[in-house]
Amino acid sequence: MPSVAKVGIVVASTLLVLAIGAVTFIGSGVYNIGADDHHTAVVLAIIKRLRERSIAVRSSAIAVPELDDAAHVEAGGTRYAAHCVGCHLAPGVSKSDLRPGLYPHPPDLAQGEVVNAQRAFWIIKHGIKMSAMPAWGKSLDDATIWDIVAFVRGLPAMTPEQYRRLAQGSRESSTIEP
Ligand code: HEC
Repeated sequence: MPSVAKVGIVVASTLLVLAIGAVTFIGSGVYNIGADDHHTAVVLAIIKRLRERSIAVRSSAIAVPELDDAAHVEAGGTRYAAHCVGCHLAPGVSKSDLRPGLYPHPPDLAQGEVVNAQRAFWIIKHGIKMSAMPAWGKSLDDATIWDIVAFVRGLPAMTPEQYRRLAQGSRESSTIEP
């Protein structure tokens, strides 16, 4: 049976070797920080778990206001067209010059990504570190962000024509349900 002191020395030496390895790796510049070089599957899985747990813990207690009113969807439409479509696309908007070069790749929100309103609100307000997703809470108030949440929830069911009208701020499309 190794003594406690011996185990301690082995653990400390292992940690020291790992720390030296990490510092050497970072200092060597061998890691490619370019957005056109993708993560390995293991790193990607760690980042995804880190992101999802961080967001879940911070968003679970957020009180969701009434979002079904068409006025919220309409108000969110012009904001979405101004701030989001270049990265997240929309019905009838299937590409942008900005989107292909982004990594992580922004989800196409016209394909039904937003199911949890609390999670969407938190992400839009606070953004996501080390990705291109901005923290809109720095420039938009909570009520405006909820309008955007109401709008994105309705995106997958919209036709290109309905999207176009809402993006322009037309009240003609007030029949769209989120
Ligand atoms: C410059 C590009 C960019 C802009 C502009 C942008 N986003 Fe994002 N967004 C991203 C990226 C990249 C991700 C994915 C981040 C990740 O995977 O970690 C993301 C993630 C999201 C998600 C989470 C999707 C999911 O279910 O995982 C939502 C919701 C979202 N954005 C909404 C918006 C809204 C609404 C706007 C406009 C107010 C917006 N984004 C503007 C790049 C952008």
